[in-house]
Amino acid sequence: MDIKTVIRTIPNYPKDGVMFRDITTLWQDAAGLRTAIDQLVWPYAGVRIDKVAGIEARGFVLGGAIAHQLSVGFVPVRKQGKLPAATIGEEYDLEYGTDIVEIHEDAIKEGENILLVDDLIATGGTAEAAIKLIRRAGGTVVGAAFVIDLPDLGGRARVENMGVNVRTLCE
Ligand code: PRP
Ligand code: HPA
Repeated sequence: MDIKTVIRTIPNYPKDGVMFRDITTLWQDAAGLRTAIDQLVWPYAGVRIDKVAGIEARGFVLGGAIAHQLSVGFVPVRKQGKLPAATIGEEYDLEYGTDIVEIHEDAIKEGENILLVDDLIATGGTAEAAIKLIRRAGGTVVGAAFVIDLPDLGGRARVENMGVNVRTLCE
């Protein structure tokens, strides 16, 4: 099936001029969700993956399903202040200002292979911060998987320039 047909576009959300790619319509569709998860994971067959890291919030849904499919654990990459135990954090740029993503400092062990997952890559700033965090924790990012790439914003190249293989399903 064509994944794009089950992704809805909302004009002018969250503000004027933005075409928001809404993945909830893909999640609602049983065949769409199954296809997306299968298509995201098959290139990693034969690659040792110890954990999946998913970026808040939509990366939790996809990353959780992928972790289950791979029979590995899941690590949430959260916005600052949301995780209860001791954390490490990385700042990244927003259109206006900055934000911070965090993981629990004991979430990833030295030498673990991590697959990073999110719904969409735009500028790549969030993914870059997540990769820096995983590396600081001692993990190796063996891939970064997204359903949607917004190619005009350059995120894929930014992540690939960090030496991370990028998998996306549609533009
Ligand atoms: C969106 C999206 C990615 C990020 C991509 O999340 O789900 O996580 O933006 O943008 P970037 O490539 O330019 O960094 P958002 O920040 O809207 O957070 P949310 O999922 O918590 O709403
Ligand atoms: N959808 C979801 N997240 C996003 C988008 C979008 O269109 N653009 C930037 N982050």
